[in-house]
Amino acid sequence: MTGHASPAFPEGKVILAIETSCDETSAAIVEEGHKIRSNIIASQVATHQVFGGVVPEIASRKHMESITAVVDRALEEGQCRWSDVTALAVTQGPGLVGALLVGVAYAKGVAMARELPLVGVHHIEGHIYANFLQYPQLSFPLLCLVVSGGHSHLIYLQDHGTMKILGSTRDDAAGEAYDKIARALGLGYPGGPLIEKLARQGDPTAYELPRAWLKDSYDFSFSGLKSSVLNLLNRAKLKGEEVDKAALAASFQEAVVDVLVEKTCSAAESLQISTVLLAGGVAANGYLRQRLEKALQKKDKKLFVPPLELCTDNAAMIACAGYYRLQRGERAGSDLNGQANLPLIRTES
Ligand code: KG4
Ligand code: ZN
Repeated sequence: MTGHASPAFPEGKVILAIETSCDETSAAIVEEGHKIRSNIIASQVATHQVFGGVVPEIASRKHMESITAVVDRALEEGQCRWSDVTALAVTQGPGLVGALLVGVAYAKGVAMARELPLVGVHHIEGHIYANFLQYPQLSFPLLCLVVSGGHSHLIYLQDHGTMKILGSTRDDAAGEAYDKIARALGLGYPGGPLIEKLARQGDPTAYELPRAWLKDSYDFSFSGLKSSVLNLLNRAKLKGEEVDKAALAASFQEAVVDVLVEKTCSAAESLQISTVLLAGGVAANGYLRQRLEKALQKKDKKLFVPPLELCTDNAAMIACAGYYRLQRGERAGSDLNGQANLPLIRTES
């Protein structure tokens, strides 16, 4: 910690990781960076569902109520005593500041009391590292499409800790668009899985919806598509016309996936990268996985996707990203703080 010699990161590394950036309180025990001994996720979805989205104040309170029990369960399920833990990793940001603070304060408390090394991890970096948890042998360079509730990024990974953002969302993130359209269709929260399910029964060509290609850029924009769907619903309501919800969900998903697939393939081609990763909550979408895999296969490129349970927020992915930071000798001081808009660390730009 600040003012003291950095505690070492010994052999037989057992990381306790904590993730509280949004509406999931999660703690994990991960050995040697990749072996998941436990990954406990206490979801607050049921609490926030009534409000149609995450209520930040409630999220912070729920994290405070759950964190001790979640960590205790992670230790128990991971058959791990406090004395077995050799380092801590915690999500530093981005996210809801009050929610982040709960995890960061807890992790700092433990690190100080037990004199353990601690690192702060960027949430998006955690999503990317869900791939390394599953496929530790991945070799660089890699291209990663990160699509979650708060982010849509195309990232070039040169090595551990060396990445460059090729493109990001200019407005709504992909998951955010799914959630907003699901709400407008009266499907509930979180919207992604509900839209995906409904879309299976609909014709994806039924409604003509816009795609923001943003020529010569790897940036994304989904707000035009979102407005188009909302306008269509409003017009139908005013005219008293029926909307084919399944077809609209399928057409919306088609437009999102078309853009994500096209931009990812074109970046992989122009940078001559043969291995592509998919990450973030929207990576749980089967249609996106299937379309991206097929499109990349045609170009002799390979897609890696974490298993479903590691796509959405969890602490094991934070442990894996933290492991590589610790290996590089990084240590957080006692001034570590939750940062709502923490930028993704870039060594090139
Ligand atoms: O990564 P994540 O758990 O939290 C953030 O960091 O934002 O992502 C949550 C997002 C939500 O917007 C949710 O609707 C979306 O991921 N999502 C999906 C699917 N499962 C989760 N979107 C599309 N299809 C899915 N199957
Ligand atoms: Zn996330």
